[in-house]
Amino acid sequence: MDINGKIYKNFLNRIDRFKIQNSPEKIKKQHSKGKLHARERIDLLFDKDSFEELDAFVTSATPDTGLGKIDEAFGDGVVIGHGRINGRLVYIFSQDFNVMGGSLGAVHAKKIMKVQDLALKVGAPIIGLIDSGGARIQEGVASLSGYTSIFHRNVQSSGVIPQISVILGPAAGGAVYSPALTDFVFMAKKTSYMFITGPNVVKEVLNEEVSFEELGGAEIHARKSGVANFIYEDEENALLGVKKLLSFFPSNNLENPPYIDSGTKSDEVIEKLRTLVPDDPYKPYDVKKVIELIIDQNTFFEVSELFAPNIVTGFARLNGKAIGIVANQPKVLAGVIDINSALKASRFVRFCDSFNIPLLTLEDVPGFLPGLDQEHRGIIKHGAKLLFAYSEATVPKITVILRKAYGGAFCVMNSKNIGGDYNFAWPTAEIAVMGPEGAVSILHKKELHNADDPNKLKKEYTSKYRQEIANPYIADEKGYIDEVIDPADTRKKLITAFESLENKHVEQPARKHGNIPL
Ligand code: HXC
Repeated sequence: MDINGKIYKNFLNRIDRFKIQNSPEKIKKQHSKGKLHARERIDLLFDKDSFEELDAFVTSATPDTGLGKIDEAFGDGVVIGHGRINGRLVYIFSQDFNVMGGSLGAVHAKKIMKVQDLALKVGAPIIGLIDSGGARIQEGVASLSGYTSIFHRNVQSSGVIPQISVILGPAAGGAVYSPALTDFVFMAKKTSYMFITGPNVVKEVLNEEVSFEELGGAEIHARKSGVANFIYEDEENALLGVKKLLSFFPSNNLENPPYIDSGTKSDEVIEKLRTLVPDDPYKPYDVKKVIELIIDQNTFFEVSELFAPNIVTGFARLNGKAIGIVANQPKVLAGVIDINSALKASRFVRFCDSFNIPLLTLEDVPGFLPGLDQEHRGIIKHGAKLLFAYSEATVPKITVILRKAYGGAFCVMNSKNIGGDYNFAWPTAEIAVMGPEGAVSILHKKELHNADDPNKLKKEYTSKYRQEIANPYIADEKGYIDEVIDPADTRKKLITAFESLENKHVEQPARKHGNIPL
């Protein structure tokens, strides 16, 4: 080709137009809103020079709709492609708010579908960076159709490749449902919002005044709705979080998570485990301290930290291998299982099971939260989700009962009967149908009613119950758990136990899918 000729010049002209579109002014416009540009975000995520863009030069499908001008920018408002994160292949789409508010038209949708299809075909994770006003109004039903095809692909990929959504601006209307169908949602504080309709429409339809932040800000979705699993102060940290999260995952459901050497632990640190759980059953403690002492140093990556903090979920490494942890948190609501904690833990268990991540359960739970509110909102069906999730999970599953394991909570927290492979208990464990107070009131109702000093008598019965019934030794002797262990041996026991389960294989009965109580 003649590099001074017309053909080459035409080629260069296109590249110049493309450069103008991503000019410093356009980038500044994003920065003025406290946001990064779609391409800057990609650069932060991927290993240096590893990103390969696809379809950079496509333009909108229907420039003249009669509903207002369509921007004829190259790329139609979304950057797609693949690259490497810590050496591993990952697909991405990153919406460009500078082009029609990152809204989704037919071509924009087709580009997203392209990377969704490629990621599924090759078995690589996909990340969506969302900054969008939702369905492109001018393109009408073509936008709705585009979104729906994306949702369909999200579902087809679910449990096959990890899918992560990062909300870095508005995610309005159709833009929220694709993230909701993916495995994890990240948000950046103060600059990202998720809602099905914005404050203006809420005002018109319901006459309610509500701010962007109150309606769908990061804090709200992390604490109240549970839609966001991770929130960060800014975009840079959110993207670093995505990289860290990915380090625990295999690329797809046929692979195992990567091994990363994460050091050993001193005996002195491990022995601290003996003193963490108070002998007094009414005294709270922080289960995250137990987690830190068991796992490889500084490897805990908590999921949904702010939502239902009465249960703790997160990824960690044990002897370099990825595990998922579910732990009751005695520090919050005594670690009781309520609707939100059951939902949070069920989803986490199902993710780990989909992607071959072994599960460790640390149990200290007085039971399910009783009462009108929980019953009326369906604790029965929501609590059943956790039973379902643990029962159907076929990854290696180990439980350590730290203290309370009463009633239905004993059953649900990965008991042996729902498939726990190894169930250990610490000497502080209390395993029984119900807590001492409740049991004594039922069993000794008449004696307590007739006693001169019912409180004194109740105390005596309670103490007897605690000593004779609510301990781990009956369960141990009758084989309902595998062993009562010294807390200081927990890390060693777990490493050996998980290693012994590495080739675990469970045949499931043939069926289309189970019917989890949704
Ligand atoms: C076309 C859109 C758009 C949209 C924004 N723009 N949203 N163009 N379709 N959905 C354009 C604006 O016209 C503007 O163009 C540019 O993007 C930037 O928008 P601004 O409003 O100036 O920005 P900002 O003030 O930051 O507000 C952002 C916003 C707001 C909060 C996202 O634009 C907004 O409320 N948009 C509509 C959100 C919404 O209700 N979407 C739901 C669509 S229905 P110019 O040319 O001026 O730069 C839907 C249903 C799908 O998605 C259902 C599937 C299940």
